[in-house]
Amino acid sequence: MADIKLLHDLRARLGTVIVGQEALLDRLVIALLAGGHVLLEGPPGLAKTTVVHALATSVDAQYQRVQFTPDLMPGDLTGSDIYDASTGTFRFIPGPLFHEILLADEINRAPPKVQSALLEAMAEHQVTVGGVTRALPLLFMVLATQNPLEQSGTYRLPEAQLDRFLFQIILDYPDLEQEIEISRRARKAHEGHVEEGLTAVLKPVEILALREQVNEIFIDEKIERYAVEVVTATRNLSKYLPQWGDMIQTGASPRASIALLRSAMARAFLDDRDYVIPEDIIELAGDVLRHRIVLDFSAQAEDINADTIISSLLNIINQP
Ligand SMILES: Nc1ncnc2c1ncn2[C@@H]1O[C@H](COP(=O)(O)OP(=O)(O)O)[C@@H](O)[C@H]1O
Ligand SMILES: [Mg+2]
Repeated sequence: MADIKLLHDLRARLGTVIVGQEALLDRLVIALLAGGHVLLEGPPGLAKTTVVHALATSVDAQYQRVQFTPDLMPGDLTGSDIYDASTGTFRFIPGPLFHEILLADEINRAPPKVQSALLEAMAEHQVTVGGVTRALPLLFMVLATQNPLEQSGTYRLPEAQLDRFLFQIILDYPDLEQEIEISRRARKAHEGHVEEGLTAVLKPVEILALREQVNEIFIDEKIERYAVEVVTATRNLSKYLPQWGDMIQTGASPRASIALLRSAMARAFLDDRDYVIPEDIIELAGDVLRHRIVLDFSAQAEDINADTIISSLLNIINQP
């Protein structure tokens, strides 16, 4: 049986590279354990690329980074059939999607065709090229970064794709002390690459084994009901928060309920419990739900965002 201690080692290892950003590091380990994709949002320079690189190295995963641009083609992700003159046949050359961890950097700069190739991979765990469908590695995990939407040349990802991300994590600037420490670490590192020289603390097969153990975590029926009520409340806002009644254009789907419960089980496991507590749900609800809620213009006008709504719902809905 793979040991939970490996995960604590992993979390500690990430902390030797990244200063602060505690919630981010916790969520990455939870997502790895829950088997979910993660969308990281924040301005440049907040260690997004660095943390993904550190994670991939620490878990000994095959890893590739792809910079998403307006001229990226689906084949640049999936790979393609290449004519081999020596044999006179076509041969499939796998693309970056066939790695265990894919860093999709600035995901919201690529056109819809690329997004749909990525969607098939994220949703079905497979890639189809030239009518042939191929399975992706068991561990396959997309870590995507997105610049805040107001930046030029970016657009909102399709809802169906956003729904495939277990978490959307919003990154914040470090405080003064943290930034001093960041600069120190960068000065000590070779060309500022603080993640260089990391070694693996666990292997992909161990992660898969740990995921099996997460499946055994117990969820009381009352807690299950609570989690699902929080999710469905985003589709019934007027019942809970009549003053904001029709601000949500589209609420979170059942996939969000699955994601919330699954990640709560992973959080419980990491915390060395074999049962979920309401705190697991409350802690993760924001990161599970914020990207799955589409607000209308009246919300924007009143300066209300998904986080405001989620925390209000958590305040109102009775905890078990
Ligand atoms: N919290 C942090 N901890 C450690 N290094 C950081 C942190 N925030 C920023 N950096 C450093 O800042 C630089 C930019 O990081 P990078 O990962 O390229 O940012 P991003 O991908 O978000 O634009 C790197 O040298 C990185 O080491
Ligand atoms: Mg980057």
